[in-house]
Amino acid sequence: MPEDVYQPMTPAEVRILRDQLDAKGKKLVFTNGCFDLLHAGHVRYLNQARALGDAMVVALNSDASVRELKGPSRPVNRERDRAEVMAALRAVDAVVIFGDMRATALIEAIRPHIYAKGGDYTVDSLNADELAALKAARSQISILPLVTGRSTTKTIERMTKPADGVGPLRLGVLGSGVGSNLKAILKAIDEHELDAEVVVAISDEKDSTFLKTAKSANVPALFVDGGHNPRRFYESAHKEIVEHLQRAHVEVVVLAGFMRILKEPMLTTFAERIVNVHPSLLPKFKGARAVQDAIDEGELETGCTVHLVTAEIDNGRILAQAKVPILVGDSAEELHQRIKVEEHKLLPKVLAQWPRKG
Ligand code: GAR
Repeated sequence: MPEDVYQPMTPAEVRILRDQLDAKGKKLVFTNGCFDLLHAGHVRYLNQARALGDAMVVALNSDASVRELKGPSRPVNRERDRAEVMAALRAVDAVVIFGDMRATALIEAIRPHIYAKGGDYTVDSLNADELAALKAARSQISILPLVTGRSTTKTIERMTKPADGVGPLRLGVLGSGVGSNLKAILKAIDEHELDAEVVVAISDEKDSTFLKTAKSANVPALFVDGGHNPRRFYESAHKEIVEHLQRAHVEVVVLAGFMRILKEPMLTTFAERIVNVHPSLLPKFKGARAVQDAIDEGELETGCTVHLVTAEIDNGRILAQAKVPILVGDSAEELHQRIKVEEHKLLPKVLAQWPRKG
């Protein structure tokens, strides 16, 4: 083995490190896991864990114990390689490999000041023996929030999924306002729940949060001047939008809070490929005052609809809906916020199921 390859430490060596830190009033963090296919979720978790103290040791499950925990197809990478990669991380000061199913003996040997664990655990769900060892060592237990959207299982799934030959769905998103639906789409993409790319974001509001959101996510963000009438649009603006969308090779146009009425050539160019999210259970409450109208009508529930866009306002084929109860005393704003929570789940879900030609 080449000399510069990282040699895992022994528990006794880590104990020396711990005692040296202790003498200086500093703290050693301990965490453990399989880490057999390192991803960004691990890196973020490890950075957070390291920030709890002054140095960190990571105890890696041996290959045999990973196999026992995760099944015969794991570990993806072998223990020596895992130790080498782990030790190269900025957050990590020492790596040990352990073969037991539990870290009890290691905790007893190292007596870490802080024990960190990922957020799928609670203090109560920790193994009783490990918990007793931590108590005896007077280790502080810290459960860190789970990093969502990143996991070894999901990574393996993506790697083994046969290629569909079409690549991520190319989205053009249009919005006039806050852009929370755009954010939800970008989050779903980031968390691998939606295999898509927002290739262009277009707004009729120059200083909208929608455009700022797009820019901060490095999405090409364009303002199209539609004129002074907030519901109508210059004819030239319709053409300009189509040009932008075509230039970006957009497959599906998403209206995410776009408050102008779309006309030709948009409707024909993207026929059956424009979706809108609307804050009511269509066909009820079409138009721009949908949330207030549902309250005024004394409805007990409303919701949101994702539908295809046609020349008739809010009348295209319904793709999906979600219900939201109207509570006594609800203001339009409060109700709209709760509707948006549902929109943020529904819209990415519809896009994730968009039929593709392979
Ligand atoms: C959303 O609630 C959407 O349903 C609504 O505008 C809001 C935009 O929010 N759209 C309509 O009313 C269209 N008729 P956002 O800017 O935070 O995504």
